[in-house]
Amino acid sequence: MGYSDVYASWKADPEGFWMNAAKAIDWASPPSKALDDSNAPLYEWYTDATVNTCYNAVDRHVENGRADQVAIIHDSPITGTVTKITYAELKERVASLAGALRAKGIEKGDRVIIYMPMVPQALEAMLACARLGAVHSVVFGGFAANELAVRIDDARPKAIIAASCGLEPNRVVQYKPLLDGAIDLADHKPEFCVMLQRPQEVVELEEGRDVDWYAFQEGVTPAECVPVEGDHPAYILYTSGTTGAPKGVVRPTAGHLVALHWTMKNLYGVEPGEVFWAASDVGWVVGHSYICYAPLLTGNTTIVFEGKPVGTPDAGTFWRVCADHKVASFFSAPTAFRAVKREDPTGALITQYDLSSLRTLFLAGERADPDTIVWLQDHLKVPVIDHWWQTETGWCIAGNPMGIEHLPIKLGSPTVPMPGYDIQILNDEGHEMPTGELGAIAVKLPLPPGTLPGLWNAEERFRKSYLNTFPGYYETGDAGMIDEDGYVYIMARTDDVINVAGHRLSTGGMEEVLAAHPDVAECAVIGVTDALKGQAPVGFLCLNAGCNRPHPEIVAEVVALVREKIGPVAAFKLACVVDRLPKTRSGKILRGTMVKIADGESYKMPATIDDPAILDEIAVALRGLGFEKA
Ligand code: COA
Ligand code: AMP
Repeated sequence: MGYSDVYASWKADPEGFWMNAAKAIDWASPPSKALDDSNAPLYEWYTDATVNTCYNAVDRHVENGRADQVAIIHDSPITGTVTKITYAELKERVASLAGALRAKGIEKGDRVIIYMPMVPQALEAMLACARLGAVHSVVFGGFAANELAVRIDDARPKAIIAASCGLEPNRVVQYKPLLDGAIDLADHKPEFCVMLQRPQEVVELEEGRDVDWYAFQEGVTPAECVPVEGDHPAYILYTSGTTGAPKGVVRPTAGHLVALHWTMKNLYGVEPGEVFWAASDVGWVVGHSYICYAPLLTGNTTIVFEGKPVGTPDAGTFWRVCADHKVASFFSAPTAFRAVKREDPTGALITQYDLSSLRTLFLAGERADPDTIVWLQDHLKVPVIDHWWQTETGWCIAGNPMGIEHLPIKLGSPTVPMPGYDIQILNDEGHEMPTGELGAIAVKLPLPPGTLPGLWNAEERFRKSYLNTFPGYYETGDAGMIDEDGYVYIMARTDDVINVAGHRLSTGGMEEVLAAHPDVAECAVIGVTDALKGQAPVGFLCLNAGCNRPHPEIVAEVVALVREKIGPVAAFKLACVVDRLPKTRSGKILRGTMVKIADGESYKMPATIDDPAILDEIAVALRGLGFEKA
């Protein structure tokens, strides 16, 4: 069957399609049906089944002949180490950790925050939670204490599992002060913290609060897998929305297992036993789905890479890892390859490695620019596949299903909808747009298994953010079009979310930080085009009347403030002081127009602007920051 047949078979019988896909999972008690629409438009999948994620990702492979196969390779060019863990070892380590957590009172449904760098223990912590039916929430290491505190207060974890440090190429990121700061800031206090001491930074444990990762496992009884209901939350992953308050995307257990398993063969084209590598971070959705869960579910070997595309030690690192570990399928963000291409434009480093195992390269997380795709195609001589998805969906919405049929690549398009997704382009009134015309991208409900059933403790926000604008559809927040061959094109966000180096960030969240500076009366943050990172945030500050302080001083302070409140990952480095901001007569800041000015694009003078001269002032300010096209 080719792609069209598979997609048509899903459309004709979604229930049959997803019940069939569910056969790949080992259920404690199998589902009698796939979709539960009893609470529409809130949908759930496989609600009457019981299942355990860790059993499917680990134990069953040990029982079925993969005990000695490597499950996880930790490759850390930063520490110069490579460690391999077999499925049998993984089972032992995870069962022991889960046993220790259980002995400290962690049970099904309890939340556990995981704040760890790219070490295999991060995956072990996730799997140990899954083993007990506890709900993990992994927080990316590049966030500041304040962001961690916000997540602690929302998820209300019984425990936090952390490492003593993360390792960036130029510095040791001390996690303990961030953890302590976050717990101080948060209203909710965890009962205990588990600390993984890394040799690069050994910290003092807090008496009565912290336990040592190894010591607290001594003498405990290993935990067995606890079956949970199909709609039990597997994890919460916070992602940026329009405001500074992150959204807690809930991942349902059973749908997650079925959908991820389906993608490994059908979308990524890998067979059990092969090596699959997603160069991302466990703190992001790509890390959850394709470093941890999906490769393990299908009995692949996954790679936990602690390094950067460049500088650890050079732009050949990716190719060295692919060659050393015989990677069959490789996945990363376009920004990572732009960094590689900038350092090694002729691809000389690529030729130094034997890449004969590599069959396909996948890109996601941000728009894949055609230059980067073509450069990769030319040098790697394998298909380079863009695919589009979101934290909310947990797996691909539109892609090129390599295990079903390699469809012709059209540069600029992540190809076609996956089964389960009925993608429509809508105008402001919610009417379907003709082929080739731009509009809001929406997905007809229900979304497929594995996608978010809601936001953690925030049903109203879920409805408002995703369901209310276009009744009967899920609003993706992306704008784009579909061409005459059914190829989807993702052009822009419809909200204030920007994408910096494949990281999703909220300009609204940054504005909240800038506005808190005592000298700032009003502000705006926009995402301008950046050759390396895709987008970069730029801040505009209007100061309080009578403020005579030097502007560079205030700019330096707000830059430091964003780093302190949101974290280095915000990459907020540019800001300027302006007299006023361009607004409509009703007071809405014209951020979109400001972006066009910065990028040197033509724009229509907004009919409702209160004073067009302000746009010239913005252009002058942008040129002052080095945006020559403004
Ligand atoms: N912990 C602590 N700090 C972190 C961090 C982490 N896990 N990840 C990034 N940071 C810090 C960086 O050290 C940097 O700090 P600095 O301002 O002191 O230099 C800051 O956050 C910005 O990081 P980043 O945006 O990653 O920029 P960079 O210049 O360090 O690297 C790239 C640029 C392109 C090499 C890098 O962004 C990259 O590898 N991107 C791929 C992203 C990716 O895989 N995304 C996942 C989606 S699939
Ligand atoms: P995140 O939730 O962090 O994965 O970010 C999801 C958002 O990143 C999407 O809504 C898009 O705006 C953008 N995105 C992800 N993948 C792609 C892609 N292949 N092409 C264009 N934009 C993408």
